[in-house]
Amino acid sequence: MGIIEVNENLRSELNNAVLCWLATVSREGVPNVTPKEIFTLSGRDRILIADIASPVSVRNIEDNPIVCVSFIDIFRQRGYKIVGLARIIERSNASFRTIGDELLAMVGDRFRIQNIIEVTMTHVSRIRAPSYQFYPERTEQEIMQDAYRTYGVTPSRGGQFNPAFRKDVSDL
Ligand SMILES: Cc1cc2nc3c(=O)[nH]c(=O)nc-3n(C[C@H](O)[C@H](O)[C@H](O)COP(=O)(O)O)c2cc1C
Repeated sequence: MGIIEVNENLRSELNNAVLCWLATVSREGVPNVTPKEIFTLSGRDRILIADIASPVSVRNIEDNPIVCVSFIDIFRQRGYKIVGLARIIERSNASFRTIGDELLAMVGDRFRIQNIIEVTMTHVSRIRAPSYQFYPERTEQEIMQDAYRTYGVTPSRGGQFNPAFRKDVSDL
């Protein structure tokens, strides 16, 4: 699979994921996994995550830049797992506003972004619910209907889940 194909799928699934999970490892080898809501793709090979209240993740990255980010579209029951190298872009960095313009637009004046966590992807793999493997005859619509029942929600726009704060949903 070429990198462009990966990125097109990845972009649309990332845009349908409400949360990502950032895994870091401390200097002593202690794992740490926490959710982040403010994240986006940057260019062809980077994910940006807003550090709003993530001191342990930031400290771990400063000690050990290898991270894993995963996210799923909970209704389509699929997503991605990304291993990468992270760096911390501090607010005082001259490029902070340029690099973080999309993250800053997402938070508006709700929160202060302390740092940008920039993850350069080194390995990308898909995450699929087991039903994709064990019940391949099931359509995406059926999988989504099941998920709506599980989560007790009713889709508002013809089955399309469309979080208002995402702007790239048009390319789904
Ligand atoms: C739904 C949800 C969304 C969150 N989104 C973010 C986020 O985008 N950025 C952030 O820094 N913290 C976010 N948090 C808060 C962190 O996950 C939380 O402060 C966590 O304790 C940080 O842990 P860490 O220091 O180990 O990274 C979110 C928490 C929840 C429950």
